[in-house]
Amino acid sequence: MHLQTTVLLAGFLFVCYVIGSLIWELLFSAARAVPGPLASRFSRLWYFSKVREGSFHHENIALHERHGQVVRVAPGYFSISTTDKTVYGIGSKFPKGDWYQGWKHPSPERWTLFPDQNSKRHAETRKRFQGLYSMSSLLSYEPYVDECIDIFLDKLSQFARSGTSINLVHWFQCYAFDVIGEITYSERFGFLDNGDDVAGTMAALEKSMTYSTLVGIFPKLHQYIYPVMEKIPGSGAAGRTYLMSFVQRKISERSQAKQDGAYRPQARGSGDGAAPQDFLDKLSEAQQQNPDKVTPYHIFMMGLSNIIAGADTTAISLSSVLYYLMTSPQAWSKLRKEIEEHGLRERRATFKDSQEMPYLQAVLKEGLRMHPATGLPLWRVVPQGGVQIGDHWLPPGSNVGVNSWVAHYDKKVYGEDADIFRPERWQEAKDAGGERLKQMEANFMPFGLGSRTCLGRHISTLEMSKLVPEIVKNFDLTLGMPKEEWKTVNHWFVMPEKLPVTLHCRNAS
Ligand code: HEM
Repeated sequence: MHLQTTVLLAGFLFVCYVIGSLIWELLFSAARAVPGPLASRFSRLWYFSKVREGSFHHENIALHERHGQVVRVAPGYFSISTTDKTVYGIGSKFPKGDWYQGWKHPSPERWTLFPDQNSKRHAETRKRFQGLYSMSSLLSYEPYVDECIDIFLDKLSQFARSGTSINLVHWFQCYAFDVIGEITYSERFGFLDNGDDVAGTMAALEKSMTYSTLVGIFPKLHQYIYPVMEKIPGSGAAGRTYLMSFVQRKISERSQAKQDGAYRPQARGSGDGAAPQDFLDKLSEAQQQNPDKVTPYHIFMMGLSNIIAGADTTAISLSSVLYYLMTSPQAWSKLRKEIEEHGLRERRATFKDSQEMPYLQAVLKEGLRMHPATGLPLWRVVPQGGVQIGDHWLPPGSNVGVNSWVAHYDKKVYGEDADIFRPERWQEAKDAGGERLKQMEANFMPFGLGSRTCLGRHISTLEMSKLVPEIVKNFDLTLGMPKEEWKTVNHWFVMPEKLPVTLHCRNAS
């Protein structure tokens, strides 16, 4: 067949497909009444291109403002603006959608907790390991956090003395990665010490993230693309492979050190002097107690999950809190006053202190509301029987999801000033009592919802609650860009492009 005929035939088939999809979507599809952009009726390409552009959170908010509670973003993919309990509640029958497949290795046995679509296996695993992330476990992690805070503050003091302008986003990444390294393997990656991306880990993760986010929109392609991409240095798939080998190396080193009798947990930080216990020790202990249920794969998988899920998310949240504090001088002063009144001028805030400071808690909460770290709908699959959301019935097999950004900027819930950073709103709602606060809490979902809510949320709260008071009490910060230049790239994690600041040490003579 001539090339020209082939092209014409392909063009003809494409036009037939577009017309056929349109007829199907407009006349026969069970969810044909759900509004949305016209292009979203044909294929997932419209959604793919918007996600690729990196600002889907803004697009998503605008879509709901224009069309209401349920919006189509692709055939069979419906973004909803309410944190519906049927979809997300504990015991929900809505498993995670196929988009999450991009977040795992294509081979079925290489599963991890976050993207797991097997609800039974997920529930069992989560139950087995949730103790490691509990509030009571935090005590054993606090010394690791203290050690990283010491180095972080030391670096900031050096920058203040030299008058160097720094990108706080980068330094928060260094802090968050090193804390996760410490908590998981008693070892920093070395980002704080070097001030740089050691062995390309951050870059690897970023590429891996973009790859997973985009390939997840066409999940059937993942099994074919991944093996090819894995071989291309610098690609997202190669990044993931690098992280997997890093985790495996840490586990082997620990087991070798134990065999050689060379492993000695170190006392650290400003704790009581006792050696804290890291994740790897706790996991190994669990394995010894129950070797049938806790396998070497579990130990590998949980360590990998911590790095992928726990580092950038915390860095993003810290960046947002500091950006909003710097651009709200009143909130900054009020927080500093609370810190000093709590007697923390001369000593480090413990986690317990931080929990007794209501304004600090409101600042962190409002920062997470204004800028949740993830910025795409949390896709779930509608089970047999379909689901009614507002005025729309969505058929079984469709994907439905709330984007935290949509929930957090809902003016019906947070008021007309929902797009303004105002920590006081939380206390006001509490004082008013009743429904208002309940609604605000129900829509607040920086850590996700229900049975798939973030396992590491207490750990990240520990990291943020201890670091923010130290920065606010020790330094005056000047933002090195106009407020409006706060820009982000959303490839699932909504990463700020930069946060340039100069610092002044308050206690410098
Ligand atoms: C401020 C920091 C953090 C934010 C905003 C955050 C956000 C989230 C969100 C939104 C989810 C659920 C996503 C979904 O439903 O698809 C999630 C899950 C998860 N997060 Fe976090 N996270 C943070 C820190 C951490 C840390 C520090 C760790 C580990 C040490 C961690 C470990 C996990 C894990 C293991 C899951 C999967 C839970 C499951 O599927 O059962 N996260 N996180």
